[in-house]
Amino acid sequence: MERIVVVGAGHMGSVVVRGLLDGMPQVEVVIVEPSAERRATLDSRAEAVAAYEPRPDDLLVLAIPPQAFDSFADGLPHGACAETIVVSIMAGVRLETLASALGTGRVLRAMPNLASRVGQSMTVLCPGEQVPAAGVDRAKAALSVIGKVLVVQDESLLDAATAVAGSGPALVAYLAQSFTDFARGAGFTPDDALLLTTQVLRGTADVLAEPAVTPQSLYRQASTPNGTTAEGIATLREHRVGESVRTALEATTERARELAG
Ligand SMILES: NC(=O)c1ccc[n+]([C@@H]2O[C@H](COP(=O)([O-])OP(=O)(O)OC[C@H]3O[C@@H](n4cnc5c(N)ncnc54)[C@H](OP(=O)(O)O)[C@@H]3O)[C@@H](O)[C@H]2O)c1
Repeated sequence: MERIVVVGAGHMGSVVVRGLLDGMPQVEVVIVEPSAERRATLDSRAEAVAAYEPRPDDLLVLAIPPQAFDSFADGLPHGACAETIVVSIMAGVRLETLASALGTGRVLRAMPNLASRVGQSMTVLCPGEQVPAAGVDRAKAALSVIGKVLVVQDESLLDAATAVAGSGPALVAYLAQSFTDFARGAGFTPDDALLLTTQVLRGTADVLAEPAVTPQSLYRQASTPNGTTAEGIATLREHRVGESVRTALEATTERARELAG
């Protein structure tokens, strides 16, 4: 039976484990979590262990904080991961660092986002050069339980992916706050203001996912000359909102680059 081992039962680890248990029932799922107290709270369908005991054909998912990685890698027997496919979701830990600490080139980096908790992550996955195609497929299938997965070959794209997809939900939520604030100010209850905003976000995302629709085609189509939407778009342009968002994404990308060293 295929075995997937998730190391770290925090926010992301728990979400991945739940997704695997629900979405890949044919797979044996193991969680590595040193805290006995936390192990006792985990889903009983998965085996919870205090330390990782490697098996060559494991798919290993590292969901620990980046600062815990060195001690995790140091604790493994020499060569233990040589044949293992290792997927790291740790922000900012480069493929080279993973490979050298784990003694294997069969490593992949993934950047999921917080929408993983509702099965709607946009996860960007970058395999190291030595990962066989079957290993990429296994990693992609495992991460698909938390949402969509885009595979890229160029690791430098992960910094921008961290900004657009990793931080994306929080950045969009910041903008959404202005919608709810405005609706509340106009007299809607907080619940109704949130309903208006979330349904607009969901509906817009669904329309954008239709064939041949782009953000630009959507807002142009909605902007009849001298109409209400055109007035709003013109005001956004006047206040250079597009440029502000681009600058924020550049700053986020730069921070991701700095943190990865
Ligand atoms: N949260 C997000 O939206 C998000 C998005 C993209 C990437 N990530 C990445 O995902 C990783 C996990 O993030 P998180 O938000 O889930 O953090 P978290 O909630 O702090 O969870 C980390 C978990 O790892 C455990 N842990 C620490 N050292 C360990 C070890 N040696 N062996 C096994 N377990 C160990 C911690 O246990 P203790 O608490 O007992 O120390 C904790 O349960 C991070 O590297 C982060 O960069 C997170």
